[in-house]
Amino acid sequence: MASPTPLELELAQRQTALGFDEWMEAALYHPEFGFFEASGEAGRRGKDFLTSPEVGPLFGAVLARAIDACWLRLGCPKPFVVVEGGAGVGTLAASIFRAGPKCLDVLCYVLVERSAKLRSQQEHLAGAAFSSLADLPDTSFDSGMVIANELLDNLPFKILELTAGGWQEVGVQHEVVCMLDHSGPAPQKESGLALPEENGHTPPESQNTMAPTNFGEQLRPLDEATQQLADQLAPHAEIGTRIPLQSRAKQWVDQTLGLLGQGEVLIFDYGGTTAELGRRGGWLRTYCQHQRGRDPLVKPGLQDITSDVAFDQLPTPTRLQTQAQFLKFWGIEELVEQGNQIWRAQAAAPTAESLIAGSRGSEAKQLCNPETFGNYKVASWEI
Ligand SMILES: C[S@@+](CC[C@H](N)C(=O)[O-])C[C@H]1O[C@@H](n2cnc3c(N)ncnc32)[C@H](O)[C@@H]1O
Repeated sequence: MASPTPLELELAQRQTALGFDEWMEAALYHPEFGFFEASGEAGRRGKDFLTSPEVGPLFGAVLARAIDACWLRLGCPKPFVVVEGGAGVGTLAASIFRAGPKCLDVLCYVLVERSAKLRSQQEHLAGAAFSSLADLPDTSFDSGMVIANELLDNLPFKILELTAGGWQEVGVQHEVVCMLDHSGPAPQKESGLALPEENGHTPPESQNTMAPTNFGEQLRPLDEATQQLADQLAPHAEIGTRIPLQSRAKQWVDQTLGLLGQGEVLIFDYGGTTAELGRRGGWLRTYCQHQRGRDPLVKPGLQDITSDVAFDQLPTPTRLQTQAQFLKFWGIEELVEQGNQIWRAQAAAPTAESLIAGSRGSEAKQLCNPETFGNYKVASWEI
């Protein structure tokens, strides 16, 4: 049995049970041992997970068109502020700059990234007009945009379970007898802390592995108001249903809506409604080294923990569409065709630029494929 990690030892010291949100906060964002601080592999192509900006520069090129459209709609304000939440190492920002939007000369780009380690890897953006912050700016802007790709799914959330006695919160307790079945096949209960098999494949390291320091689930009572909220969000849930309660994601969107006098907030993420997530389960996932990870209560800090976003828990957006719809609306097909022309024109003596242009077709396939990124949601709030 492997020895406990420093974070497991630290969490084991806590005297009281943690909410899952507190567990996730430590596992992902502990200043020393959190996944996004310690791993350094997070968010990079071919590492723990792949995101749309990491597929290639095409996603940013399409977004540059949406940014220009917002800028034009607002009468070409100067400066034009674009705040990117959960910016990671700045891959999306780099693609947007490289696409050369019309507003580039007046663009004031703010990368907001909580992880000091990832912020320190943004130096490749040198030369562009950007600033980098650990949290959202505390002053508002007359006009601008806020964008975020795959941020909300990483914001800590609570887990609620419907029991015969009503909705309860799933807490995390040290040394509670582990609820996983250590002898049999993968647990059947989805969307709880025990992960289901995906597409018939068992996650790389068996989810039945005993944690070196045991953490287990503990149900605890919920206040009346939260129970009523859960009833509204998942009105026909059956006993045993679990749902995420994503108050932090809602607060983040609320805060960004308050940042802008006029403009747009644009969020890209996977998810559905709370009731859908509760019905289908499987909304809680872990990732490690580009594969599905293990039970989220195992190895805190060494794997990503994420949830489908319950979009109905956010403020009601102006528009909610799929990523494929969004990208097609903003001209991904035209950009692919332009890329093909560049590629064909230089086919005899390809350059780095023409190779990148020629790969737009395969990028577009991935970005619009409903099996990969195409069914992700794009929520926009026009202000
Ligand atoms: C899944 S990664 C996505 C990175 C990037 N947007 C991409 O699409 O490749 C989520 C990022 O959000 C950051 N993050 C989490 N909470 C944050 C917050 N409250 N403010 C800013 N960044 C945050 C994490 O540190 C992590 O880098």
